[in-house]
Amino acid sequence: MKILVVGGGGREHAIIASLAKSPKKPEIFCAPGNGGISQLATCVDIKATDIDAMVRFAKENQIDLTVVAPDDPLVLGMVDRFEAEGLRAFGPRANAAIIEGSKVFSKELMKKYHIPTAKYEVFSDYDSALSYVRNTSYPTVVKAEGLALGKGVIIANNREEAEAAVREIMQDKAFGDAGNRVVIEEFLTGQEVSVLAFTDGKTMVPMVSAQDHKRAYDGDQGLNTGGIGTFSPSRLYTAEIHAECMEKIFLPTMHAMNQEGRTFQGVLYFGLIMTADGVKVIEYNARFGDPETQVVLPRLKTDLLTIFEAIIDQKLSEVSVEWADNAAVCVVLASGGYPKSYQKGYEITGIDIAESLDDIVVYHAGTICKDGKFFTNGGRVLGVTAVGTDLDDAIRKAYDGVSKISFQDMHYRKDIGIK
Ligand code: AMP
Ligand code: GLY
Repeated sequence: MKILVVGGGGREHAIIASLAKSPKKPEIFCAPGNGGISQLATCVDIKATDIDAMVRFAKENQIDLTVVAPDDPLVLGMVDRFEAEGLRAFGPRANAAIIEGSKVFSKELMKKYHIPTAKYEVFSDYDSALSYVRNTSYPTVVKAEGLALGKGVIIANNREEAEAAVREIMQDKAFGDAGNRVVIEEFLTGQEVSVLAFTDGKTMVPMVSAQDHKRAYDGDQGLNTGGIGTFSPSRLYTAEIHAECMEKIFLPTMHAMNQEGRTFQGVLYFGLIMTADGVKVIEYNARFGDPETQVVLPRLKTDLLTIFEAIIDQKLSEVSVEWADNAAVCVVLASGGYPKSYQKGYEITGIDIAESLDDIVVYHAGTICKDGKFFTNGGRVLGVTAVGTDLDDAIRKAYDGVSKISFQDMHYRKDIGIK
């Protein structure tokens, strides 16, 4: 069986590592892939959003299954196109991926189906948005409607910051058409937990919980990043909270999407916040999270390929999805300067030594492999992931792994897993 995975970050490396363990022994391709992925799969130089080239490659190489991992090709309709061409693809169709692609859509969905979330207003007109922020209370949250590489959300502490955010999104078009409309919402306080779920539109199977560290520096200081470290499980996500989420958020979302004629088949990511008055949804993503996937999939005991196929065939209820009763921690090693500007092309040493330790795997995010050596090639470079009996054990092992690796200007947080 031949599988093509679309994407090329740490998340895709973790997905491929999981698929590579399948008893079905698939031959794996990845487009575009990265240095680490090239050790497990044949990397193909096609951009993740190039739907035509991806379809052509799948046809020419008799790919049996394509897994679309990143948000933008999903929102652009890559899965729809594959299906129209008679090819099998894993991931939601565009009409369901809109749950991530449009924050206006997701907020309206939650309002209509009484799914708990922050109170909000939508503006398509710059002046109305400005006059609203002049009269609202602070902090407040300003969000570009569409995909903005995780940068379209601004927490404004006062009127000046909110006006600047509205101007940046709606007038300067910092995120292009993603900023045609803004959502301005109530600021919620509480700890955030991510729950990814497998769903075929009939059955909802949440994965083990995870937490993401977003700020660049220790103690949650510095700029927001795409995610600088993760751990699973969350200490906050108890069985009671899980039951509340299942009843009030997860199943209602699946039913709501069906009701709207937008059945969601794939991985649905719930970004949750534990507020004083219950769990609320901060965001939906239509895919695996990055770097949440790196700590969730190593804990999966069931064959991932079997799960993917069952979701496509809407037979997820027939699969018993099992998890190890352990913990995982992923420490991201970033290029100095990230999330602002940084240099690329530095040689990385010690990955093999780190991986020779027990229970350590190093997922590559931004690397290339040349003549058997790895070089930095992005802001987030590696995700050093350890599995342990509990979080403390996993933290200790992960940092032991980190200590073996180096490259110029390497930066990482020393407090991943402590929250
Ligand atoms: P999003 O892209 O919607 O996930 O937002 C990115 C991050 O902004 C979230 O992970 C939160 O940390 C923060 N955020 C978003 N919306 C809110 C809100 N209503 N209240 C507090 N924090 C928020
Ligand atoms: N780590 C957050 C995301 O994947 O969107």
